[in-house]
Amino acid sequence: MYTIVDFEAFSDTTFLWEVLAPDVARAAQPGHFVMLRLHEGSERIPLTVADFDRDKGTITMVIQALGKTTREMAQGYRIGDRFLDFVGPLGLPQQIAQVGHVVLVGGGLGIAPVYPQLRAFKEAGNRVTAIIGFRNQGLVFWEDRFRAHCDDLIICTNDGSYGRPGLVTEALTEILERDRPDLVVAIGPLPMMHACVETTRPFGVETRVSLNTIMVDGTGMCGSCRVTVDGEVKFACVEGPDFDGHKVDFAELIARQQRFRQQESQASEDYAH
Ligand code: FES
Repeated sequence: MYTIVDFEAFSDTTFLWEVLAPDVARAAQPGHFVMLRLHEGSERIPLTVADFDRDKGTITMVIQALGKTTREMAQGYRIGDRFLDFVGPLGLPQQIAQVGHVVLVGGGLGIAPVYPQLRAFKEAGNRVTAIIGFRNQGLVFWEDRFRAHCDDLIICTNDGSYGRPGLVTEALTEILERDRPDLVVAIGPLPMMHACVETTRPFGVETRVSLNTIMVDGTGMCGSCRVTVDGEVKFACVEGPDFDGHKVDFAELIARQQRFRQQESQASEDYAH
């Protein structure tokens, strides 16, 4: 059993869990993910590592209560509560190297996993710019953490209630035009990552994306997480989740993500009643 040592609500639907898991924390690196199962009979869900503390032996995740399991996590668990399974770290970590100017773009929940990558790129001697986008001011989180490690931080809100009004891709375009980066890392909802990839493509700037595909086992056995990259089938759980965004078939991936939509809403409805 694993214990929740911190819980923080960022909004009605977004919350943080810090979990005591020393073995996972010891091996965790930016870009890794974990698979979590609450109790016997519940589904296993993949969650990207948003932070890790090897001294405390903890892993932090930021979660959005969207489906049955994540709503159960938001409503039924608090500090000190325990849950059944926590497997990781899984996947390949991000390749961190000194490349020059790195721009990290985070949208919505993707902002959390951007954070450890940003810290690692900064520690590796890069100049780092972060562009993080929220729907509105009420959803902003971790501004202080980002400021502590960024050379430049641009916060965007869709409704203009805080920071720069508009989409992260608009801020990214401006940077590409005036201060060409050597590498862009984009993490967030698929349409946002797709838009970032199409924004950087004409500039020829390498753009890595983190693909949060549908996963069942997370260890390369079921094929659920497959994605086409450069014309080849890849399993995101063992060969990713980070890939060269310019080579990802986003149209196919976005279509694949819809395939359990009906079952997902039915499970959510059943949980609500
Ligand atoms: Fe099963 Fe990747 S989740 S192969």
